[in-house]
Amino acid sequence: MTSNVVEHKIFDHKRWKKQVLLKFLRKKSFRKRFFNSDFFFQQVMKKAPIRKVLLESLVKPKRLVFENFFSRNGNLSPYEVMAICSIVADRKPRCLLEVGTFDGNTTLQMALNAPEDALIHTIDLPSENEMTAQPVLDSDLQFIRDERKRQRKFEGSAVANKVKQHFGDSTEYDFAKFTSMGPLDLIFIDGGHSYECVASDTKNARKVLAKDGCILWHDFTPHFGGVFQFLCELSKELPLVHVDGTNLVFYDAKNSE
Ligand SMILES: C[S@@+](CC[C@H](N)C(=O)[O-])C[C@H]1O[C@@H](n2cnc3c(N)ncnc32)[C@H](O)[C@@H]1O
Repeated sequence: MTSNVVEHKIFDHKRWKKQVLLKFLRKKSFRKRFFNSDFFFQQVMKKAPIRKVLLESLVKPKRLVFENFFSRNGNLSPYEVMAICSIVADRKPRCLLEVGTFDGNTTLQMALNAPEDALIHTIDLPSENEMTAQPVLDSDLQFIRDERKRQRKFEGSAVANKVKQHFGDSTEYDFAKFTSMGPLDLIFIDGGHSYECVASDTKNARKVLAKDGCILWHDFTPHFGGVFQFLCELSKELPLVHVDGTNLVFYDAKNSE
């Protein structure tokens, strides 16, 4: 007796999934949710051209000092503050610049870990004027208008003498004003988050950066599309690295020589 058999076929999952996804993507409401989903952002992040590195591959462990460092919306996360302070403690920069002071949390922690004779220039928009030459994101406005940031954390601290506050639009400001002690050893860019703002701040920062200086950018995540796109583009020109576990991107000018 012969059996009645057909060839065994394995179900083509990949093609099926793709077809279902394409069908759903034709629906506007699904498209909107999909392109804003964590899953989509994770996939974009995986494809980013900037290499991820561990903090310990950039710096040697150092004893760090923190004060009044609890973060709130608008600040760096505690691990990001620790990462930036490790870089400060390791490299011992004398001339520093922060674009986007906010409530001065990162400014204070950097000052606590910088050498005695260091000076941190930090710039923010004046409270009474939120007009900027380059566009800012609507999500930037809550931090631009924040009332509590008027009291900056470094004011009245034991390291207040290491900080010089500037007020103005960073995209129009004369960065030469930050070089009173010479070219800058460390620059931290965290002001306006539009493509135009971060491009302008970076262009100006590079003009005043010391030959062996470094730049850090915050908010390297597809949630901040302008910053993300700008840094991906810049990585074709400069050896940028993404510090693992943070939204920080780091550039060491020594690696460009
Ligand atoms: C996310 S907060 C900075 C957080 C801060 N660096 C920290 O680590 O806690 C961004 C700040 O940039 C400021 N800002 C936005 N656009 C700016 C511009 N064009 N010039 C100067 N400051 C700007 C905002 O007022 C806000 O205080």
